[in-house]
Amino acid sequence: MIAYPSGQKLSKQIAAWRERGESVGFVPTMGALHKGHATLCSMAKAQADRVVVSIFVNPTQFHDSQDLEKYPRTIDQDLATLSALGVDAVYLPEVREIYPADYKQPVYALGPLEKVMEGVHRPGHFQGVAAVLDRFFQLLPVNMAFFGEKDFQQLEAVHRLVAMKGHEISVVGCPTIREECGLAMSSRNMRLSAAGRETACSIYKGFIEIKKATAEVFEPDHLEQTKKNWEALGMEVEYLELAHATTFESARQGDSLALRNSWRLFAAAHVEGVRLIDNLALKS
Ligand code: PAF
Repeated sequence: MIAYPSGQKLSKQIAAWRERGESVGFVPTMGALHKGHATLCSMAKAQADRVVVSIFVNPTQFHDSQDLEKYPRTIDQDLATLSALGVDAVYLPEVREIYPADYKQPVYALGPLEKVMEGVHRPGHFQGVAAVLDRFFQLLPVNMAFFGEKDFQQLEAVHRLVAMKGHEISVVGCPTIREECGLAMSSRNMRLSAAGRETACSIYKGFIEIKKATAEVFEPDHLEQTKKNWEALGMEVEYLELAHATTFESARQGDSLALRNSWRLFAAAHVEGVRLIDNLALKS
């Protein structure tokens, strides 16, 4: 595995692979790698001849500077993990390479996803995600890019970005990888104590309870009850919603849920000051 601080050099290597007829899969990350990332790399390896991973804690997607500062950084461990996974190249850019001094962040038309849930609670977040991926996709001529469904709104933002900018890249969404208790794998989980982790497992348990209680017609009481249960455990709940999987519109009392795979549960909550998100299809 070769580490490239320079996008130009990596781009040349990718072009050489492609000239030889090899396909290139790309897994963008912010490091602090866990099994979820390992699964993205394995999926990329299964679908592409070469796999490139980036590690870059992207400042433009954090609206809270404290959150950016506290974001876990485990570079030595990450490089060992990627090497063991058989990744071909890792891209480790400096902030100035991605955002040169004369860089002006464009405004991306990402649609309704910016007006709900993560879009509301993290202002500018998806603009920052679109900005960094737009730069990566301009710099690196990869064929495919892999993203986890845990960040479901992000996945939709990437689809929109690629269509809007005409990047010739297939976007591949990969299922959320969970701990045994159901907690969605996240780099942020490493900041939780053992007790905090146990509390955080209630997010998935709550989703399962709501799924069981939810029949053909939407009843907001089920969400309210779960929210109260989470708060009683000491969680600070930002939102818990049942929303349409493509329009992201919230379900309203009496809405038909007969098409269960059109609906997803979404939540964001703080446990021990760590912000966690998760989502789950209503379909079992
Ligand atoms: O999902 C992430 O880790 C980040 O949002 C991404 C896609 C690497 C962009 O910085």
